[in-house]
Amino acid sequence: MSGAAVDAEYAALAADYDDDWAVYNRATAERTLRAVRDRAGEPGRALDVGCGTGTLLERLTTTAATVAVGLDRSAEMLTVARRRLPGTPLARGDAAALPFADASFDAAATNSALHYADDPAGCVRELARVTKPGGTVVWTDWDAGALTTRGVIAWLRLTRRPLGRALSATAMAAALTDAGLTDVRVDRWRHGWLWGLATVSGRKPG
Ligand SMILES: C[S@@+](CC[C@H](N)C(=O)[O-])C[C@H]1O[C@@H](n2cnc3c(N)ncnc32)[C@H](O)[C@@H]1O
Repeated sequence: MSGAAVDAEYAALAADYDDDWAVYNRATAERTLRAVRDRAGEPGRALDVGCGTGTLLERLTTTAATVAVGLDRSAEMLTVARRRLPGTPLARGDAAALPFADASFDAAATNSALHYADDPAGCVRELARVTKPGGTVVWTDWDAGALTTRGVIAWLRLTRRPLGRALSATAMAAALTDAGLTDVRVDRWRHGWLWGLATVSGRKPG
């Protein structure tokens, strides 16, 4: 899936995104936030990759991290995030090549974004790279091992909507391990009857 197709999708969705996806976004952000807090307490610097309009980023900023930074490849989604969170650092960029130095963050999180990537495991390596030794990586996404989620993925492919490589919860956890993270935990969960999701998390040794 080309980045241009993802950009076109979110340029079209950005203005109404918060209204259209409010319930799903809140549920996934809370689950991701819970994992960040469980694993990292109150991280000094946190990163939200694929932050979109800033639902998780807002929660990180107000309840967990001292400083939270958002990154997304969609200019239009970042425009909405900027209105919502004035003063919060936002960067435009790609999860596959994060524009941050090694070991810049105490926690790096991503929520419902990496299924757009052709190489989500490579993106996870980037999250691990920018995380400090002793820091935490949390990834919430569709669980391609869940039957109903497989149905959504099949429908998206049939209708030629943008989609990269959605992984099963087991493969997500393996990607964290392959990225050098330890104490990897897997939380499979559902949002409504349709969405089978997973929140996986791990610790960078050191
Ligand atoms: C489903 S939205 C989720 C937004 C936000 N994380 C949330 O939970 O509300 C997916 C977001 O991921 C972004 N995205 C997709 N692929 C990306 C990539 N390779 N690098 C950075 N952002 C990406 C899209 O632009 C979009 O804003």
